[in-house]
Amino acid sequence: KESLLVDQHGRRLNYLRLSVTDRCNFRCYYCMPEEGINFAPRKELLSFEEMYQLSNVFVGLGIDKIRITGGEPFVRNGIIPFLYKLSELDGLKEIVVTSNGTLSAKHQSALKEMGIRKINISLDSLDAERFHRITRRDSFDTVYNGILGLLDDGFEIKLNCVIADNKNIEDIIPFIELTKNHPLSVRFLEEMPFNGSAISGYSGWDYQRIYQHISQHYTDINRIISDDNSTSVNYKIPGYAGGFGIIPSFSRTFCGTCNRVRLSATGELRTCLYGPPVANLRDTLRSGATGEGLQQILLNAVAKREKDGFAAEALSNGSIHTSMSVLGG
Ligand code: GTP
Ligand code: 5AD
Ligand code: SF4
Repeated sequence: KESLLVDQHGRRLNYLRLSVTDRCNFRCYYCMPEEGINFAPRKELLSFEEMYQLSNVFVGLGIDKIRITGGEPFVRNGIIPFLYKLSELDGLKEIVVTSNGTLSAKHQSALKEMGIRKINISLDSLDAERFHRITRRDSFDTVYNGILGLLDDGFEIKLNCVIADNKNIEDIIPFIELTKNHPLSVRFLEEMPFNGSAISGYSGWDYQRIYQHISQHYTDINRIISDDNSTSVNYKIPGYAGGFGIIPSFSRTFCGTCNRVRLSATGELRTCLYGPPVANLRDTLRSGATGEGLQQILLNAVAKREKDGFAAEALSNGSIHTSMSVLGG
């Protein structure tokens, strides 16, 4: 079924990124300062009941894939019963999750049972000390063993690895070597300068530089053709079980084929990662809107979507003002 969520430039949206919390048990330097950010008070968060109601409307209009993000989605109490309920929504083909991997082992059997098979995990280093310097937490073993456990159980895993000088350049090749025997995909992400974290300015490790670094180590690299909506450009070392990719989150924009809509934990609807909220669906719901009223608000908000989004602007002036923990990535 074709999605009814279509913007004025003809792009149909079938993919909702739903952030269930802005909180996280990590403090990655590129995302938050040590003291955290101004987390939303509980009453400002969408309840799971409200998230379900909204998801139902989205799916009714043609969303068939929901990515659960955060913050760290598994730190929110009640997430598992919510996911069970969501997984039974008619018309929703796929639920996927982006997580930091600290709590996945705990929920592995539940996730499997409800048919969630694809998890993206943030892992920026394969060395416990560097991992600590990046996340400010000592959870390397937990995350790494969690990933191996998920792979053993047949989950499809993509690792997200944000690349920066003096942080994890020496991890790039070991990450690719990890794909030799493990059927996972490692994606190297350009760091996006976010001004609420400790970083300022751009690290200079863009797509080209990352690729160049890799090509100095491997003579044979195959390019994999990926679908239009893929954020990463994908490659494979012949004979390796898994593959790797590079996400040019800073040097390239994905606007032309963007099929995504985002809902923050406080109900803010965004039709562009870098753009302002175009509606607050929590307020809409709490003021009594239901069924067709909600549908109309969504259809209108999506219709007005800008052609090129706000990516170029946000990236050219060098700063993104809202943490990925709030935006949901
Ligand atoms: P799938 O395509 O569903 O596998 O998801 P993904 O790769 O987008 O998901 P993930 O949550 O792992 O996000 C990885 C990174 O992709 C994010 O942190 C962003 O850096 C980047 N990204 C995601 N969506 C967008 C987007 O709309 N624009 C840009 N420029 N970058 C994005
Ligand atoms: N730059 C690049 N990637 C970021 N992420 C969070 N903040 C940033 C940033 N400033 C990534 C995390 C996570 C994904 C959803 O977003 O690594 O895997
Ligand atoms: Fe948490 Fe992800 Fe932000 Fe790291 S990048 S602090 S894991 S939300």
